[in-house]
Amino acid sequence: MSDLLREELKGRTAYGAPQLDVPVRLNTNENSYPLPEAVAAAVEKALSDEVRGLIRYPDRDAVALRADLAAYLGLTVEQVWAANGSNEIQQQLLQAFAGAGRKALGFGPAYSMHPLLCLGTATSWIDGGRGPDFELTADYAVEQIRLHRPDVTLLCSPNNPTGTALTLDIAEAVLAQKQGLVVVDEAYAEFRREGTPSALTLLESHPNLVVTRTMSKAFAFAGARVGYMAAHPEIVEAMQLVRLPYHLSALTQAAARAALAHADVLLGTVEAIKQQRDLIVSSLREMGWQVAESDANFVLFGRFADQRAVWRQLLDQGVLVRDVGLDGWLRVTAGNAEETAAFLKAMEEIR
Ligand SMILES: Cc1ncc(COP(=O)(O)O)c(C=O)c1O
Repeated sequence: MSDLLREELKGRTAYGAPQLDVPVRLNTNENSYPLPEAVAAAVEKALSDEVRGLIRYPDRDAVALRADLAAYLGLTVEQVWAANGSNEIQQQLLQAFAGAGRKALGFGPAYSMHPLLCLGTATSWIDGGRGPDFELTADYAVEQIRLHRPDVTLLCSPNNPTGTALTLDIAEAVLAQKQGLVVVDEAYAEFRREGTPSALTLLESHPNLVVTRTMSKAFAFAGARVGYMAAHPEIVEAMQLVRLPYHLSALTQAAARAALAHADVLLGTVEAIKQQRDLIVSSLREMGWQVAESDANFVLFGRFADQRAVWRQLLDQGVLVRDVGLDGWLRVTAGNAEETAAFLKAMEEIR
C-alpha cells in the first residue's frame, strides 16, 4: 500500500516521543503535578452533566469555551479560537493561510511539529536556521523574510527545544515587514521569567499576528487536548472555513470550561515548576554542563560527545529525558522536586 502514499510521505516515520513506562518521565514537557482535587471534581461533574446531551452535536463554534479563554487572556470572544490542542490550531492556520503552492518559514531548531504540519498541509517548509548558540536576531529574521517572502512565519516563544523566549523586538521587526501571517507559538508562555513580555501585547496593532497557546502545559490538561489562539477577528473567522464541523467534542468543551473556572488553582503549580527549572539550570551548570537559558518548563543541556549514550545511561537509572535530535544536547522537563532530585542524581553518575 505504501506505493499509494503521497511521494513526500513515503519512508517517513510518525512523530512521537517514546512512551516508556519508567519511574521518572521527563520527556514530553507535561505538567507532572496531580490535578488538584477541586478541579478533578469540577471536571467530573461537568462531564457527567454533559453525558445525556451527547445525542446532539456540540456547539460548532465553541462560543462559551472561547469566551472563557478570552476572559483568561483579557480579549473578546471574536479574537479567540479553540481546537484540539495548539497542534490543531496551527494545522488549521496552515490550511487557511498556506497549503499547496505556498510557503512557511521557521527558525530551527524549533518545535519539530511545525515542518510536519507543513508536510501534512502540502505547504513548502523553509528552515531559516539560527546562530551557532541557537540565537535568533531581529536582523537575521528580517533578512530571511525578505529572502523567502513566506505566506506564514512561525516563531516559537519560548522556543522548543532551546527553552528561551524571543525578545519582542524580533516579533516586532518581523511584523513590520507586513509579510503574510506571523504566528507566535507560545505553548509555554506561562513559564516565562520575570520581565519577558508576551506577543499578545502586540495584537492590537498587528492584524496579521496570531498567538497560539495551549492548556497542555501550565494548565496540566494535556490529556484533554485543548489549544487556542488569539488573533484579529477576521483570522478567527477564516478558521471556520477549514475546521471540521464539530471539531471540539462536547466533552472536551465541558471539561475545559470546568478547568478554566479553576484557572488560579490549576496555574498554582507554575511557580513551583519554575523553581524546579531554575534549580535544574543552576545545578547542571555547577556540574560543568552547558545549559541554555529557559523561560519554559524544560531545559536544554549538553554538550555530550554522544547524547544518545547519555540518554540511555539516564534511562538505565529510571529517568526518561528527550533526545531531540540535536547533536550533543538533551532536553529535560522540569517536574516536581522528587523528579528533579532523581534526574540530578542520575546526572551526577554521568560525570
Ligand atoms: C512549542 C510547542 N507548541 C505546541 C505544542 C503542542 O501542544 P498541544 O497540541 O498539546 O497544545 C507543543 C507540545 O509539546 C510545543 O512544544
